[in-house]
Amino acid sequence: MIDKIKEYIAEVDAFKAKSKEEIEAFRIKFSGRKGIINDFFTEFRTVANEQKKELGQAINTLKIAAEEKVQLLKEEFEANVEEKGSYGDLTRPAAPIALGSRHPISLVKNQIIDIFSRIGFNVSEGPEIEDDWHNFTALNLPEYHPARDMQDTFFIQTDPDILLRTHTSSVQVRYMENNQPPIRTISPGRVYRNEAISARSHCFFHQVEGLYIDKDVSFSDLKQTLQYFTTALFGKSEIRLRPSYFPFTEPSAEVDVYWGLETETDYKMTKGTGWLEIMGCGMVDPNVLKNCNIDPEVYSGFAFGMGIDRIALLVYGISDIRMLSENDIRFLEQFKSAL
Ligand code: PHE
Repeated sequence: MIDKIKEYIAEVDAFKAKSKEEIEAFRIKFSGRKGIINDFFTEFRTVANEQKKELGQAINTLKIAAEEKVQLLKEEFEANVEEKGSYGDLTRPAAPIALGSRHPISLVKNQIIDIFSRIGFNVSEGPEIEDDWHNFTALNLPEYHPARDMQDTFFIQTDPDILLRTHTSSVQVRYMENNQPPIRTISPGRVYRNEAISARSHCFFHQVEGLYIDKDVSFSDLKQTLQYFTTALFGKSEIRLRPSYFPFTEPSAEVDVYWGLETETDYKMTKGTGWLEIMGCGMVDPNVLKNCNIDPEVYSGFAFGMGIDRIALLVYGISDIRMLSENDIRFLEQFKSAL
C-alpha cells in the first residue's frame, strides 16, 4: 500500500493540465468523495496498528499534494486567461480613429523643401514681424524708394519701423548677415500684403524664396536650378525667363513654365497661352551683398521667390485661394491620402 501511495504522489507532482476541465477531473480523481484518497482512508482503518503511523503520514502527504496541485493549477490557469484577455478580441473590428491630414500648403512646402534639399539647400526661417531694414532697406529699397509701393505693406501703427514682412527675402538678409558664402538656403514662410481678398489673392500668403551665393555663380546656374525645380515639382521642364524688375536683383526676371494647352482648365489657367508665371528671380544686386557684409568683388549669387498658395491651387486643382485659410474640415479632409 505504501508503494502505491508513493506512486500516486509522483503522479500528482508530474501532472499538467491544459484546461479547467482537466484540473477538475484531476481533483475528482484524487480528492473527490469516491476518489483515491478517500479509498486509502477507508483501507487505512483495516491495517494493523503498527503500520498506521507511517501509512497515515503517507496518505496525508498525498492529500496535501493533490490539494495544493489543484490550487496551483487553477491560479496559473486564471493568470493565463487574464493575460490573453488583455489582447481583447482580436477579430473585433478596429475602433475608428479620426486621422488628421496635412494642409495643402504644408504638402507643397514640404515637397519644395525636399526638392531643393536634394541639391544642397538648407531651410532658414525668420520672424513674420520684421523691421524696415530686413524687409526693405538692406534689399536695396531705401526710404522713399518708389518700389516700396510694389507691395502694399501692413505697418504697425505705433512704430513705422516695424511691419509684417511682405516677402521672405527678409530671412535671406538675416541669413547673409550671419553666414558667409557658400550659401544655399531656402526660406519658406507666411507673408502679408494689404491686398483686396478675392478668389485669386489674399492679404496673407506663403512663399518659398531661395538664395545661392558663392564664387562664380552665374545666370545660367540660376536657369539650370529653376529648370531642375519645375521638372521635379510639375514634371515640366520647359521654362522661359522674361525680363523684369526687382530692386534686390540685377538682372531680374519672371519665370514662366510651359503648362500646356491640353484641357479646358489649361486654357483658363494660362489665359490661352499655355504659359504660367510661377516666380520672380535674378542675380543678387551687389548693393544687397554689401549691405549684408558679403564682398561683391569676390562673390555673386542668385535669388528667387515664389508664392506657394497659387502653386497649391495648381497642383491640387483648387479654384479659390480663400479655401486655404478657411479651415473648412470638409475641404481639408480631402488631403488625407496626400503625402
Ligand atoms: N521677393 C520677391 C517677391 O516677394 C520675389 C523675388 C525673390 C524676386 C528673389 C527676385 C528674387 O515678390
